[in-house]
Amino acid sequence: MEPLQGTEGTVFSDRGRLYTVSRDPGRRVYSERLVSVGGTEYREWSATRSKLSAYLSAGGRSYPLRKDSKVLYLGAANGTTVSHVSDIARSGRVYGVEFSPRSFRDLVKLSETRDNVLPILADATRPDEYSFAVDRVDVVYSDVAQKNQADILADNMNRYGARYGMVCIKARSEDVAASPESIFEMSRKRLVERGMKILDIRSLEPFEKDHAMIVVERPRTAYCVAFDGDRFLMVHNPRRKGWEMPGGKLEDGETAEAAAARECLEESGYEVEIVATRDIGYCDVCSARVVAKRSEGEMRAEFFDTIPEELAFDRSEYETVIPWARGTL
Ligand SMILES: C[S@@+](CC[C@H](N)C(=O)[O-])C[C@H]1O[C@@H](n2cnc3c(N)ncnc32)[C@H](O)[C@@H]1O
Repeated sequence: MEPLQGTEGTVFSDRGRLYTVSRDPGRRVYSERLVSVGGTEYREWSATRSKLSAYLSAGGRSYPLRKDSKVLYLGAANGTTVSHVSDIARSGRVYGVEFSPRSFRDLVKLSETRDNVLPILADATRPDEYSFAVDRVDVVYSDVAQKNQADILADNMNRYGARYGMVCIKARSEDVAASPESIFEMSRKRLVERGMKILDIRSLEPFEKDHAMIVVERPRTAYCVAFDGDRFLMVHNPRRKGWEMPGGKLEDGETAEAAAARECLEESGYEVEIVATRDIGYCDVCSARVVAKRSEGEMRAEFFDTIPEELAFDRSEYETVIPWARGTL
């Protein structure tokens, strides 16, 4: 068994076959072969049973999964691929979204012996509806085999702050009459329009007919936690229907500090002076002091002593970054 190059020790290969290390030794999830080597149990990961395995077998190495990744998996079905992602992200978490109650039952069963799998019975086209269960994630993996696969990926990545996304494009799900190549190109274009950087686009032949995997990265973002005395500034985002810290995407060549200050001025109308920066993985957070009100911002802006109830994003992140920012001033 050799670690598969480019997978950070999470996938193994032996004589052309791929394997993951079982997180639940002694148990098969489907009919996969189990192999024990030196006291470690490996599960064979067939490229004809799983599109993620097909992607790796086809030479794809834009592979963002890590041992501690938090993965939002759309179209979890009965858990064939989810079980391997659970082996891979063994100290992370896999949120498996599936809307068919029948498949969901198998997924629940899988989660009983794999405590990093959280099954969610929901529609992946409505990402707001599972925010009660999902925090921010590192990667969105999507295999929903329905129309608008590119937008479903982008909506979920934006909603859950994912830096990386992988989407299996099944050409026939978009349009049965069009050529697969034109569908892949249309999906690529749509992801670029949605602001994503394309890391790889690869046909899954010969393992899956008329399928391609597209791997994307979301541009980096930065936001600021700006204080006026003891109170911090937030803006109300009408689209996300909640309060958030002012911020947004870094433009080409822009630093996180410059982006946070620019976005703050645009969104809230307040000029700020950045004091310190902290990388929280998917984005940079800048602590800041308010200098002056310069204009009417694009959004409603208010100062708070405590985190408001109605938030656009995860509360626990703000519970960490607000005390950190206060401590830097
Ligand atoms: C191609 S199968 C997924 C196979 C699975 N990824 C695997 O490798 O084991 C597609 C799954 O997506 C589900 N699905 C399709 N549209 C969905 C949606 N809008 N929300 C949630 N699940 C969806 C289907 O019920 C089906 O189980």
